Amino acid sequence: MANIINGKLVAQQVKENVRNEVEQLKNSGVDICLAVVLVGNDPASKVYVRNKKLACEKVGIISKEILFDENISQIELVSAIKDLNNNNKINGILVQLPLPKHLDEKEIIRSIDPMKDVDAFHPVNVGKIMIGEYDFLPCTPAGIVDLIDSTGIDICGKNCVVVGRSNIVGKPMTMLLLNRHGTVTVCHSKTNNLIDFTKNADILVAAVGIPNFITADMVKPDAVVIDVGINRMQDGSLCGDVDFSNVEKVAGYITPVPGGVGPMTIAKLMENTLRAAKKQNSI
Ligand code: GUN
Repeated sequence: MANIINGKLVAQQVKENVRNEVEQLKNSGVDICLAVVLVGNDPASKVYVRNKKLACEKVGIISKEILFDENISQIELVSAIKDLNNNNKINGILVQLPLPKHLDEKEIIRSIDPMKDVDAFHPVNVGKIMIGEYDFLPCTPAGIVDLIDSTGIDICGKNCVVVGRSNIVGKPMTMLLLNRHGTVTVCHSKTNNLIDFTKNADILVAAVGIPNFITADMVKPDAVVIDVGINRMQDGSLCGDVDFSNVEKVAGYITPVPGGVGPMTIAKLMENTLRAAKKQNSI
């Protein structure tokens, strides 16, 4: 049976370190503030934003929630973000995605000051990750690297297979594993003979958004299996991209859903906000 990777515990350690540093900065007169922009009433986004706010409270970061009606125009939203860019009391800016369809998400992301882009979604930050000279790492992939490190297994030289190619997870995950000297293969829902790739993975990251997509026969014995999926089932329960109950009989380590990758994403957001504040204050 696989060892369960406890994302809540690893996230707590990350947040504890952030909390200590935030307190030190506060004592030297530096307050840290994260602006979270939410457009519309998407229920899942509201939950994510609330969790981010709670995490800020826990580590001592001030959170400023900025809510807009779902009919806000592109010009109004860009203008609001520019105001946040110019406000030196705001250290980090996060625009909760997805945005309503009439808004141009890419332009909105480009309007965020890269030095305040704590999601690391701005093309400048994405480019820096490509060349290994980053200011911020995207929260979910960075959290996954911490989870892999928590197993004690060294990524260097391992066969790493990422299933999924999104801009938020799959593509940056590939770069981070490569930066750690993994041998990385990127697959996706249209990959022919996917099992031929996954079966050789020492480290398998599933980020396709399809419930139970990774089955036990696709997993190498003793592999580290990371499940990024958060799929809401009809009965309201959450289900990952990995068939947990069967894969845990084969894998060496596995993340649960919930309680695996999710808590890490928020912990790394706190870390990025702290990093933004330190850079802005030349600390
Ligand atoms: N929506 C789902 N995940 C994320 C995330 O990591 N950041 C933002 N801004 N929106 C999201």
